[in-house]
Amino acid sequence: MVTWHRTMPEPPKLVRIPTLKTPADFRNYVATLGLDLPCEDQIVTGAASPLAQPVDAVTINGKRIGNRWAIQPMEGWDGTASGGATDDVRRRWQRFGESSAKLIYGGEAMAVQPDGRANPNQLVIVEQNKKDLAALREILVRAHQERYGTGDDLVIGFQLTHSGRFCKPNDKSRTEPRVAYRHPILDKKFNVTSDAQVFTDGEIERLIECYIAAAKIARDVGADFVDIKHCHGYLLHEFLSAFTRPGKYGGSFENRTRILRDIIAGIRASGNPIDIGVRLSAFDFVPFKPDAALSQPGKLGPGIPEDFSDCLPYRFGFGANQGNPVEYDLTETFQFVELCAQLGVKILNLSAGSPYYNPHIQRPAAYPPSDGYQPPEDPLVGVARQINVVRQVAEFVQALNRSTVEAGPAVSVSTLPRFHASTPILIGSAYSYLQEYLPHVAQYVVRNGWTDMIGLGRMTLAYPNILADAVEKGALEKKLICRTFSDCTTAPRNGLISGCYPLDKYYAAKPESQKLREIKKAACCRHPAGRKTHRLPARRRQHVCREALPLCRFGHERRAKRKRQGTGAVQDAIARSEGSKANEW
Ligand SMILES: Cc1cc2nc3c(=O)[nH]c(=O)nc-3n(C[C@H](O)[C@H](O)[C@H](O)COP(=O)(O)O)c2cc1C
Ligand code: SF4
Repeated sequence: MVTWHRTMPEPPKLVRIPTLKTPADFRNYVATLGLDLPCEDQIVTGAASPLAQPVDAVTINGKRIGNRWAIQPMEGWDGTASGGATDDVRRRWQRFGESSAKLIYGGEAMAVQPDGRANPNQLVIVEQNKKDLAALREILVRAHQERYGTGDDLVIGFQLTHSGRFCKPNDKSRTEPRVAYRHPILDKKFNVTSDAQVFTDGEIERLIECYIAAAKIARDVGADFVDIKHCHGYLLHEFLSAFTRPGKYGGSFENRTRILRDIIAGIRASGNPIDIGVRLSAFDFVPFKPDAALSQPGKLGPGIPEDFSDCLPYRFGFGANQGNPVEYDLTETFQFVELCAQLGVKILNLSAGSPYYNPHIQRPAAYPPSDGYQPPEDPLVGVARQINVVRQVAEFVQALNRSTVEAGPAVSVSTLPRFHASTPILIGSAYSYLQEYLPHVAQYVVRNGWTDMIGLGRMTLAYPNILADAVEKGALEKKLICRTFSDCTTAPRNGLISGCYPLDKYYAAKPESQKLREIKKAACCRHPAGRKTHRLPARRRQHVCREALPLCRFGHERRAKRKRQGTGAVQDAIARSEGSKANEW
């Protein structure tokens, strides 16, 4: 029997990135973790930057992608009840356009049918919302053109999804899961109690028609490509691990990938020439939970895996080692990549796991979201894991390009001849936790062909101009850097719109910001230790709360107060306080 405690180390003492003052400090710290995570000394500016190079390997809708930055899809839980856009959605897309990223990979997840929404305010890509979607694209393109003079090298896709197990189409607090198969661990967590919640083959055939219709809408409103989302535990990702499902959509690799093949064949048969991308969770682990044994009063324990001893071999995760599912196994991932090449998929955007059941592998963070757990590993381990998996896939793609399945040495993907016209380019994910050193690492991995493009998520909610600042000035604005506070995940988990509440004034000024503070305070007060804590004098309470429960970090209030007092150096203060707390976790 494989257990967590036999295979994984104790949770780490966390060293905060702002306390690492130079790239050499960063490298030294990374070396203590035993990671392969290279970091260049300087941010290269101007045309010499590897990140400023256009992508020559593919054209999307006839366009060449103008640089190596992609904005990852990020939904805001803030559309209209019928799946149209609001001012909040429009602002987010405008900021995506203002960033210098030349690839907008998906914008945000859009449900292909209303009951497939992850929340009642998710965008829905149906005829009725065509005007709103066209306007979103238009706003983004215009913002980009105004700032950079051209949109000719800007590529925009729409991400198509069905939320499957995580559907909440009607009520923010009521899950209405629909699943690919009965899962021995996730069913309990997400309220799957009956086989009637399993998609029938007939329902899948109708769903495929919805994807084909959504791709037509995307084409009609000017999207350059559609992403057929296969990540994060949502429906089509779940089908990839439907080993135990009978019938034509389960069991063999061929059956588990049938939906993707049928969607693409259907799009083509309909005469729609739109280009195709796929976002894939390249590997997965078992679901995690906070370790009750290591919880302290008022503080969630570090993540540990749910007990999987009764589920071995583990046939419930795609890219998971079936003998020890806290490790990855890329055998089928490579097979999937090859399938994408055969299907003419032009972009493969690699992510990992799920934000709902193992967020530390999906979006490494120093502070957990409200439904999470303390990091079970240094978040840099999670960053390095994703970067190195993408590197292995890049080597596999290079081998495919050489018409051999033997992976060759790492050489620049972009400079290799492409013998398969349709070999996809690769986008890597989960770079935001790198903070100050994001450009230094990104430069290295692109320069050395570990990926074609860098995909940025949370960092662009906090600091959409990070890309432009890096390449134009060679320096970042510290006070705008995302510190992975996870408020953008905690807010929607509690029924609020998403956004960067700590660092984006637009959200800090909204009534939802106050509600979020109250939710976090209540979470702390509900906890036995939190109840005690809130009877302490204010000064001690602030300290104890921040240490006790990140979700009740009165550190936020303290920072906001400093801001009001006009001290200016808010992030420096955070960095100082974090410096003094290094190693305290
Ligand atoms: C608020 C929020 C919304 C997200 N929405 C989506 C989404 O709609 N589709 C998707 O594929 N990933 C989504 N993600 C995941 C991100 O695209 C990205 O993979 C993740 O944040 C890790 O990258 P990062 O470290 O740069 O943040 C979301 C992440 C956040 C924080
Ligand atoms: S709320 Fe802001 S700082 Fe926190 S993780 Fe999200 S983007 Fe980063």
